[in-house]
Amino acid sequence: MKPILKNLQFWKYGKENPGLGRLAEEGYSKAFWNARLRYSFEYSPDEVSFTDFEIPGRIYFIAGRGDITNPLGFARCVEGGGDGMHAGNASKLDGLDVKGFLRDSEDREVTRSNLGNYDGFDAYTGQGKILSIERIESFAQRQGVGSQLIDFIKSQDDHRLYELIEAEANGIKPVNFFRKNGFIYSGIDADAGEMAVMVWNNPKFKS
Ligand SMILES: CC(C)(COP(=O)(O)OP(=O)(O)OC[C@H]1O[C@@H](n2cnc3c(N)ncnc32)[C@H](O)[C@@H]1OP(=O)(O)O)[C@@H](O)C(=O)NCCC(=O)NCCS
Repeated sequence: MKPILKNLQFWKYGKENPGLGRLAEEGYSKAFWNARLRYSFEYSPDEVSFTDFEIPGRIYFIAGRGDITNPLGFARCVEGGGDGMHAGNASKLDGLDVKGFLRDSEDREVTRSNLGNYDGFDAYTGQGKILSIERIESFAQRQGVGSQLIDFIKSQDDHRLYELIEAEANGIKPVNFFRKNGFIYSGIDADAGEMAVMVWNNPKFKS
């Protein structure tokens, strides 16, 4: 096991527990300004919030070393669906609300009414929720933190939570990361091919 993975712990919270978000934010600032060796950050603390709950269904997952004030990575997500909803209505993909943003290999527009025809989405039964990963980041890349965070997200089992996880992966590195973690390419591209929509289907759900 990589040393950094020792004592790795995980937290999940939504708007009912903003206190955890405040602790994670404090920790993020500390880690960023202390410029810990071998850590890398895409954004400064001013650009990252762990306490933004404006969007209904917002959920955060944090990976931390022993304590949430020592964060090593996060996933900012939105959940929706379940109750028999079809994939097009349940999905929280950003791109669905921007006309023409999502397209398939034949350059057809992907909309809420045809999303259910694409790989991964076609297996969605509506029994469980969909989790949309808006952003996932690891501060110590290529040491397994991101994958462990994904494992934690997949293993949520209150009411067999998360029948499907979706993400818009920006570039080959994230695409490979999601592939390694059992996601498939849906056949849908976003933002003129800059991003690929990746999907994980929970094998506990059978259509
Ligand atoms: C994508 C990301 C979250 C992965 O987190 P991580 O902690 O590095 O993930 P892991 O160590 O579990 O890596 C698993 C796989 O991801 C891919 N990967 C991760 N970092 C990579 C890098 N710097 N270069 C190439 N591939 C990389 C590799 O396939 C890797 O497997 P391997 O090391 O066995 O080849 C991380 O690289 C990151 O924070 N990137 C910047 C933000 C971003 O692009 N987020 C994704 C889009 S929202």
